[in-house]
Amino acid sequence: MSDVAAIIPSQIFGPTYDWPAHITGLAYIVAAVLFILALAGLSKNETALRGNIYGATGMGIALVATLYQAVSYQAFGAGLGVTTTLTLALVAMAVGGAIGVWRARTVEMTGMPELIAILHSFVGLAAVLVGFNTFVSMGDEVATGHVDPSTLGFHLGEVGVGVFIGAVTFTGSIVAYLKLSAKIKGAPLTLPGRNWLNLAALVVSAVLVGVMVACVTVSGGTLTGMTTGWIALGLLTIIALALGLHLVAAIGGGDMPVVVSMLNSYSGWAAAAAGFMLNNTLLIITGALVGSSGAYLSYIMCQAMNRSFISVILGGFGSDGATSGEAKDYGEHREVDAGEVARMLSEAKSVVITPGYGMAVAQAQYPVADLTKKLRAKGVDVRFGIHPVAGRLPGHMNVLLAEAKVPYDIVLEMDEINDDFPDTDVVLVIGANDTVNPAATEPGSPIAGMPVLHVWEARDVVVFKRSMNTGYAGVQNPLFFNENSQMLFGDAKDSVEAIIKAL
Ligand code: TAP
Repeated sequence: MSDVAAIIPSQIFGPTYDWPAHITGLAYIVAAVLFILALAGLSKNETALRGNIYGATGMGIALVATLYQAVSYQAFGAGLGVTTTLTLALVAMAVGGAIGVWRARTVEMTGMPELIAILHSFVGLAAVLVGFNTFVSMGDEVATGHVDPSTLGFHLGEVGVGVFIGAVTFTGSIVAYLKLSAKIKGAPLTLPGRNWLNLAALVVSAVLVGVMVACVTVSGGTLTGMTTGWIALGLLTIIALALGLHLVAAIGGGDMPVVVSMLNSYSGWAAAAAGFMLNNTLLIITGALVGSSGAYLSYIMCQAMNRSFISVILGGFGSDGATSGEAKDYGEHREVDAGEVARMLSEAKSVVITPGYGMAVAQAQYPVADLTKKLRAKGVDVRFGIHPVAGRLPGHMNVLLAEAKVPYDIVLEMDEINDDFPDTDVVLVIGANDTVNPAATEPGSPIAGMPVLHVWEARDVVVFKRSMNTGYAGVQNPLFFNENSQMLFGDAKDSVEAIIKAL
């Protein structure tokens, strides 16, 4: 960029001032501030819309500034020319934008996690491709003086680290996508000595980056040692692809939420690495924001689920990898109909609703909000208990309830409501399963140690679901066979509407 900086101002703005670089730099600062405000806004329901607007505005500014910089650069014979550059960029944006709008309009709320996972894989793939492109063009960059030979080692290190993080994110996200969309099922992959395998992959990758830095050097203005460099980069890519696959394949179903946010974090670091390679400050800042906020979210989720953060990022390190508990005989379950539930509710003083993934599938949040309104009008104390990983996205239930205009002040977190169940008359478990499974309190269960909503401590529990099937983690739920539990079978939306009718 240095000679571009010298050419542009001398031809357009006079001999000393590099306007395009300064205008782009300023626009990037404004965009970065808007991204930070967006993250702050997204942390609360009330300010989430504003946060989204800040984020979209920041991204719009970043896009225009980047296009402006690319066009300014091309205007001075540095590459393809203005028309070709603009056409290529706009065609790519139009195709990507059209696919994005189509997916955003067609995706079901319940399909969001797998969509997010596949989008993370694109970021990883982009970092790998940017890394390869940087490596291919490094000879020219050195020959034309764009890369100072004394900083070559640093640039090679950037390429190695960027390709490594990108490749881990790419395959890890594809496995996460396949698991979340139930295209691959079954027990986590538990290879013998898998933690040692992961460690060995990490060490060998670091050595290969060292080989690239040591062997690719400048001699007489040209690069030497490229063959060794290519072999090292190729091996590094293969090892990182295998590592990403293995890390996520080793994670059990119940821990997938943490993996999704961890991959979100990895995709941020992959973008930051691409930013270093492309010398783009905004990409570095944005990548670091996504990387650090994703890592913090993973940490919070690990705490909420009583899981070790290190264990999850190292691919199930220290866990025995079990996913399905033994099918025990818990006896008979009891069934109930909507009329009887309506009677129980009208006699109750306090009701707690614990929604889960099934409420999202059934889109039952609107009748649930109506039922809440009706019961509150009758003087019943209705509250919601939200498990941190209920549904398939962080905050999934909060979003659905906010959409249906359930007042925020009656929507409580698990820790805020768990002590109140013994004083609750009726709990309505609407499409939740793992998050209300008392098996989590049994040592040896695949979900042992995961905090759950203690719904079984209430006087009566009604479970809304379609069958006796297990939840996402594949663990049988003894709650369904308790003396004080009754099953209301059917689609959750139909069941709630039938109760409203009967009330
Ligand atoms: P789950 O354990 O997934 O159980 C959902 C239940 O809803 C199922 O047992 C299903 O039973 C029922 N259901 C499905 N469709 C229904 C419908 N139309 N009407 C009525 N019931 C319906 O739900 P949960 O308690 O919310 O737990 C979430 C699980 O997902 C946890 O294991 C969590 O770790 C995992 N997970 C969470 C996330 C995030 S970030 N939240 C991401 C990935 C994974 P039937 O089939 O019998 O109806």
